[in-house]
Amino acid sequence: MSDPTYFDGWSTDLYGEDLLFQRTIHRLTGGVVRGAVLDLGCGSRVHYDVSRAERWLGLDVSQAMLDDLRFFGGPPPCRVATQRVSCLDVELPAASFDTVCAIFLLHHLGQDSTRRSRARVVALLAKARRSLRPDGKLLVAENAARALEWPYHLAYAPLYRWFHRHRAVELPHFWTRKQLLAMAREAGFGEAVLAEIPIRERIANPMTGIALPPVLIDRLQRMTLLVLDKPA
Ligand SMILES: C[S@@+](CC[C@H](N)C(=O)[O-])C[C@H]1O[C@@H](n2cnc3c(N)ncnc32)[C@H](O)[C@@H]1O
Repeated sequence: MSDPTYFDGWSTDLYGEDLLFQRTIHRLTGGVVRGAVLDLGCGSRVHYDVSRAERWLGLDVSQAMLDDLRFFGGPPPCRVATQRVSCLDVELPAASFDTVCAIFLLHHLGQDSTRRSRARVVALLAKARRSLRPDGKLLVAENAARALEWPYHLAYAPLYRWFHRHRAVELPHFWTRKQLLAMAREAGFGEAVLAEIPIRERIANPMTGIALPPVLIDRLQRMTLLVLDKPA
């Protein structure tokens, strides 16, 4: 992510308001998100259950997203604050949050090689871990990379450079469940609870409006939900 205005161009209209996978995130996170909550790359829609939040801070590079912020199931019963900043640059106070969320953010931290993209994700996860209180939790949701996507990731470095230079598009780098768990361990997280959930709905890309053809939806669209514990 090198152009901070890139995400301002996303059309939030293209996000469905009530897709099954969003309701699934809400249901599954009821007991997880609590206390002081930090959301990295909160975007304009918060789908997890915020009913037990005592403070909520959302960070995003896009002011357009922050201006359109909405909470699925109603706003949290506490103070809501937002800040336009890159979570890669921001300094986070140590041991200050009970829950940190990174919902469909990590694949947007791609750089011009898989190695550099991975290093970025690990550095962000380690920063999130330091900002958690003991026994705090990191909630991660990601579009899991599937076996069929390997040609894309094999060609990621040249593709990234070409799209970046000629189309001003920041290509996402997706991660498999195994890679996500390995990066979380490297960043110092302990126990992980993991769910993999197929997303059997038509979801259009917010920049292009293009959705996968039905035959590929079942094969490629899958959400990984991770709850990571900060070791005491
Ligand atoms: C796919 S959207 C997800 C938004 C929201 N978390 C959700 O679940 O709907 C990714 C979001 O990450 C934001 N983003 C991308 N790179 C970022 C960065 N380096 N720092 C902060 N936000 C970033 C984008 O502006 C966008 O709002």
